[in-house]
Amino acid sequence: MSRVPNVAIDGPAGSGKSTVARLVAQKLDFLYVDTGAMYRAVTYLALKTAVNLDDQDALGSLAEATKFSNVRFCSSGGDVALWCDGANVTPYLRKWDVTREVARVAAVPMVRHCLVRSQRVFARSGGVVMEGRDIGTVVLPDAEFKFFLTADLDTRIERRALEMSGNGWTVDPEELCRQFIYRDEMDLKRTVGPLKAAPDAVVIEGTALTADEIVDRIVTVCQGRVA
Ligand code: CDP
Repeated sequence: MSRVPNVAIDGPAGSGKSTVARLVAQKLDFLYVDTGAMYRAVTYLALKTAVNLDDQDALGSLAEATKFSNVRFCSSGGDVALWCDGANVTPYLRKWDVTREVARVAAVPMVRHCLVRSQRVFARSGGVVMEGRDIGTVVLPDAEFKFFLTADLDTRIERRALEMSGNGWTVDPEELCRQFIYRDEMDLKRTVGPLKAAPDAVVIEGTALTADEIVDRIVTVCQGRVA
């Protein structure tokens, strides 16, 4: 019997991939894995323990030592949490300093090597919706279903600003714009695991689409090919 398929969803910040990936996982009853949260967790731990962010060896050692076997992602009812070394680090992952530094930490090859290894373990038995920047190209090149979400910069910023204010955060749109441009550039230009659509990914330009419309397209493709 063939294994349960995996779904890879990649795209830049604000393209809607977290919302969409969560909903797709709920609809398919798959496990949702947010790989950005893992890069954020290493960044949070590095800042917390005052690791020098220019020291690639130290960051690599931190990623290696972090017990990602204790990571847990729940897909039910929007209750998504990331546990790391026995502690729930979710409340810290979207902090401004973590967001400011994460692309720098994520560009370190040794950090990527460690996290990609853990991500592959989550997907070993199939039945995973995994979202990130390099899932279809590097982490799960054999994923049965691959999607790449895009949207124009203004729309992405608008979506993130709405999400942040909905969560009670103060939003500075100009700072958000600078941060998106900086992260896009870092994510696109790094040598290991850059943000890129896999050649066999279905590209969804989502500027004019709602999250539900994108979810419907993805689920239709997955169910159409599985049935
Ligand atoms: O939610 P948002 O799109 O703002 O970011 P995220 O998905 O939480 O990812 C945060 C950062 O982690 C990205 O800007 C990338 O630098 C990095 N990342 C990565 O390099 N590779 C991944 N597979 C996922 C995230």
